[in-house]
Amino acid sequence: MIIEPKTRGFICITSHPKGCEQNVLNQIEYIKSKGKIGEAKRVLVIGASTGFGLASRIASAFGSNSSTIGVFFEKPPTEGKTASSGWYNTAAFEKKAHEEGIYAKSINGDAFSNEIKQQTIDLIKQDLGQVDMVVYSLASPVRTHPVTGVRHKSTLKPIGEPYTNKTVDFHTGAVKEITISPCNQDDIDNTVAVMGGEDWEMWIDELKNADLLSSDFTTVAYSYIGPELTEAVYRKGTIGKAKDHLEKTAFTITDLLKEINGKAYVSVNKALVTQSSSAIPVIPLYISLLYKVMKENNVHEGCIEQIHRLYTERLALDKVPTDAVGRIRIDDLEMRSDIQEQVSALWEQVTEENLPSIGDLEGYKTDFFNLFGFNYDEIDYNSEVDEMVNIPGLQ
Ligand code: NAI
Ligand code: NA
Repeated sequence: MIIEPKTRGFICITSHPKGCEQNVLNQIEYIKSKGKIGEAKRVLVIGASTGFGLASRIASAFGSNSSTIGVFFEKPPTEGKTASSGWYNTAAFEKKAHEEGIYAKSINGDAFSNEIKQQTIDLIKQDLGQVDMVVYSLASPVRTHPVTGVRHKSTLKPIGEPYTNKTVDFHTGAVKEITISPCNQDDIDNTVAVMGGEDWEMWIDELKNADLLSSDFTTVAYSYIGPELTEAVYRKGTIGKAKDHLEKTAFTITDLLKEINGKAYVSVNKALVTQSSSAIPVIPLYISLLYKVMKENNVHEGCIEQIHRLYTERLALDKVPTDAVGRIRIDDLEMRSDIQEQVSALWEQVTEENLPSIGDLEGYKTDFFNLFGFNYDEIDYNSEVDEMVNIPGLQ
């Protein structure tokens, strides 16, 4: 079929297998160009199909020949209907890994469930024996709790008072003010249940009880802080409470891992265009300005550059550098005071009329469509492609 982008709200409901492959190949090429990253490991990536999780899987496999098991929740293709992009990303990743003799298998299903955890445990036992590292990179709007059966929904709301700021509809370029009403306690509890650290801890606990963690095992989960201007809706909002919980959970897990000398880290990453961040109000406008400033200052990074730096300049060191509360910081360039000052100055001025020139709306849109395999110069979007792509190592 001929596949074109079709957007609904903030998301794109089609994706292009060849373009998704291009996205993956570009990331593989970047990692290879940077040379070898340490010894081969056995790595489980939870949330492995898009964004930071995909970049982590690529950096592990192609940076150090690591064996990877990827867990994700993606829609397979049906005749005449494309798969979700993470499906095609994974198909391309596994094809390339297998060509190079690198072990890669995948599990598609709800990582919050007991069933998927058990299936993963069985696969590790069967194929890898143990794992040396778990990357936890889930981003989900909902979680069905495996013990209570309650379906929690996360929200992106301020706490205490309404929050008004500028936001952009990046499809049309319209800049408007929006006001978001404050949350109630249930919103906070539900968001913490979905995006906090409980599920991360459950995974590590279950893997440890099954004796599947090697000595000196490491696990890392991803967090975000961001600037003052998004604080009310992000770090001091409902999602921020979940990130507080996730960050605290790193200490709980490290305690759990004492006897195997294991360690749990949270890495605070940079704001980037992913399927998750494009759904957050205000953030896309902030990212459009941030991209402009970071590109002008030659410090722009995407997911793969971020994860490469995490692996080589943070996790690889004997003493992993962290901030005062134990978090790894790879948002250092985003948070640099000169960068933030320039972004704040632009934020004051930005309007619908001047955004295309003072911000990087084009860069935002390109990155957004790239997530779904569109807008790659290398791909001929007028030719027929087969939507029915398999993931070779899917269990
Ligand atoms: P993403 O949307 O690109 O990736 C989410 C992944 O989780 C996908 O692989 C998806 O298939 C998987 N997933 C979602 N629900 C699942 C479920 N129930 N079972 C199994 N897999 C499921 O998101 P992104 O942006 O890469 O986020 C990953 C982490 O990084 C999140 O914790 C996010 O808060 C954090 N982060 C994101 C930043 C950003 O600007 N995008 C900045 C800093 C941190
Ligand atoms: Na991810």
